[in-house]
Amino acid sequence: MRPFALERYLSKHEFAVRHLACASDPDTLRVHDLLALDPKARDRLLTLPLGYTETKGSLELREAIANLYEGIAPEDVLVHVGAEEPVFTFFKSLLAPGDHVIVLTPTYQSLTSIAEDLGATVSRWMAREADGWQPDLDELKSLVTPKTKVIVVNTPQNPTGGLLSPDRFAAVTDLAQERGLWLLGDEVYRGLEHGGPKVKSVAEVSERAVSLGAMAKVYGLAGLRIGWAVSRDRERLAQMETVKDFLSICAPAPSELLATVALENADLLRARTVSTVRRNLEAVEAVLARFPARLSWKRPLAGTTGFLRVHGEPASTWSERLLSQTGVLLAPSTLFDFEDTHVRIGLGRSNLPAALEALSDWLERR
Ligand SMILES: Cc1ncc(COP(=O)(O)O)c(C=O)c1O
Repeated sequence: MRPFALERYLSKHEFAVRHLACASDPDTLRVHDLLALDPKARDRLLTLPLGYTETKGSLELREAIANLYEGIAPEDVLVHVGAEEPVFTFFKSLLAPGDHVIVLTPTYQSLTSIAEDLGATVSRWMAREADGWQPDLDELKSLVTPKTKVIVVNTPQNPTGGLLSPDRFAAVTDLAQERGLWLLGDEVYRGLEHGGPKVKSVAEVSERAVSLGAMAKVYGLAGLRIGWAVSRDRERLAQMETVKDFLSICAPAPSELLATVALENADLLRARTVSTVRRNLEAVEAVLARFPARLSWKRPLAGTTGFLRVHGEPASTWSERLLSQTGVLLAPSTLFDFEDTHVRIGLGRSNLPAALEALSDWLERR
């Protein structure tokens, strides 16, 4: 497979740099923080059997996940290991060589690479910075061919922090329904709409749709490696489950239990992430106000990331120098199959201001 550029980059630098300033997962919690949310959880964890779990996911976890959606039952949920796994189970269960997939970009590379690796052709439907990271609907219509099988939308969007406006979201779901296309909604940042309208889930509005969610970005629990697929098409979920049998089979029992405790306190954990992101947005804007000729952005509306435009120099060489001279790690846009113009910044960590200070000093010196 084509290597996953962002994951390779993070694997090289993430645990070695002084200032990790491009993470998409927010501040995490410790096990005892989660256990403190539910008086019975500690005993349950200590007495938990460590055998295989149900392939679909435990009923109580699926109930907690279903509660995040309108009109979704626990039977409409298939728990996975991370949100990465259901990208694969969805495409593998559906695509044949020669199929065509349209993907809203820039985005997380799996959403294009896995489809390509399975022999599908992929068209990129670009979000436009000048339009506040909205894509053009006429362009979407022109991309649909008789071979098109799936439209993929990642909203809220990584890396831009944009989201599909409600009217465009409705237009995409209508178009998919009219043309009989599948919709894959990568919604791992849904719930973090810190400056925009609340995003609906594709699984709520369409039966021919699969929505992906996870513990990583909204709840700061990436290490639990719990993600899920939600769909009212249970036959699709059954087919994804047969692929999952060849991958993780089932999720780890301690992760299922801790994820359930977290989701029973979803509002609290979500609010914690949003408040960190809001503080960091102001801190980033203070830097942009000091150096308007060097960096700019369309202020993100949702999620934990923003896409900063670097002026006067390719973003990849700029960010490489920044890293070697200050230890600040930003992720250049080339890692997102995008032109060499932007860097992703992560907004969910409370230590971002220290990285911003190092960045400002560096910009000042130059
Ligand atoms: C848009 C998007 N989808 C999926 C994933 C994978 O999520 P997980 O860590 O739960 O596997 C990520 C992680 O960065 C992401 O940004």
